[in-house]
Amino acid sequence: MDLLSLARTVKERVEEPITDALAVAKIVTDPRTPLLLTLSTLVVTPLYRASFLASAAGSGVLQCLAVRPCDLDSLAEHLEVPDDRQRLRAWLDIGVRLGEFDMREGCYRLKSNTAKLLAQVGNDAVAAALEEIMRFHVPVLLDAPRMLRHGHRFSLDDQDGTVIARSSLALQGFVQEAIDQTLERATPVRLLEIGCGTGAYVRYAAELNPRLTALAVDLQEEVAAQAADNMAQWGLTDRVEIRQGDLRTLDLQPQFDLVTLHNNIYYFPESERVEVLERARSFLAPGGRLLVTSSCQGGGNLGIDVLNLWFEYADFGGPLPQEDELVAQMEKAGFVDVRATQIIPTQPFLAFAGTNARPATP
Ligand SMILES: C[S@@+](CC[C@H](N)C(=O)[O-])C[C@H]1O[C@@H](n2cnc3c(N)ncnc32)[C@H](O)[C@@H]1O
Repeated sequence: MDLLSLARTVKERVEEPITDALAVAKIVTDPRTPLLLTLSTLVVTPLYRASFLASAAGSGVLQCLAVRPCDLDSLAEHLEVPDDRQRLRAWLDIGVRLGEFDMREGCYRLKSNTAKLLAQVGNDAVAAALEEIMRFHVPVLLDAPRMLRHGHRFSLDDQDGTVIARSSLALQGFVQEAIDQTLERATPVRLLEIGCGTGAYVRYAAELNPRLTALAVDLQEEVAAQAADNMAQWGLTDRVEIRQGDLRTLDLQPQFDLVTLHNNIYYFPESERVEVLERARSFLAPGGRLLVTSSCQGGGNLGIDVLNLWFEYADFGGPLPQEDELVAQMEKAGFVDVRATQIIPTQPFLAFAGTNARPATP
């Protein structure tokens, strides 16, 4: 029994006949007991719940149980667990103990409202955001001092690109508003999207302008493959080409009316951002526009601050942008009419738009 459970047991037992009053009194009056109880309730149990829910959502168990209650064998089959039923049961039973699941007539079912909501298809981005927090934000908070001591940095391989692509869609409302404000509807548009993730924003632009065609590129192979699958599912393969590629080495003619970078300017080190923006401009036809959307520093949002910290500890990318800096970088990269717009007052999410007035330098 761990100390937290011991402290809880003692607290519960003081109402019962006390068999060994001295031992109980010793533990109850231990000055660490109140701290242990506070930690258990306010810190540890919520952390256990968050970890369990992130794992249950990420593995598809929540979605499975949302369809119907399942017994151990069918969950094992779903999770492709070949034979170790006992340990799977131990993990599921913790879900019951935490109040997320219920077990009746040999079947697990969803119990908590949070589990039920996270299981809904429409909340997939929130479920992925929870997984991102547990898998990527928690390790930087946990390991920062050790990483500094050993000179260790996170790399792009430490991120699961498909989880990040899904969790990015939690910002959908902001990005769609920025697209609404920027996208030309009356004429055909050739769009180049850099770091397309799931491709959801290319789809949105294609729906707004039925004459839009697009090339969407993502650095990560598995992300680009998923975006290509999505385009096929959305019936957009005749209008949207997906490619795995790196903005820094793309070889394209200045043929696009709009280049977009959503939620990825911080994947480039600050010192390279002018060059990256110049490169984006080199793909634009004269008069073409660039749209960069990003969470920015300085809004007092804790999640954004921890994301910023993650990139401080990574061997690629850099800090989230600051409004004035990114505007200046776009101007330095040759854009004119550069504007930063805060999509919703008080929220540190900005859209930066600029126009390519002159042909790119060779
Ligand atoms: C946080 S995700 C955002 C995905 C999508 N734009 C969205 O907002 O949902 C950032 C994406 O940018 C991609 N990316 C990062 N650096 C890139 C580069 N140099 N060239 C192309 N894509 C890049 C990553 O692979 C990742 O999928």
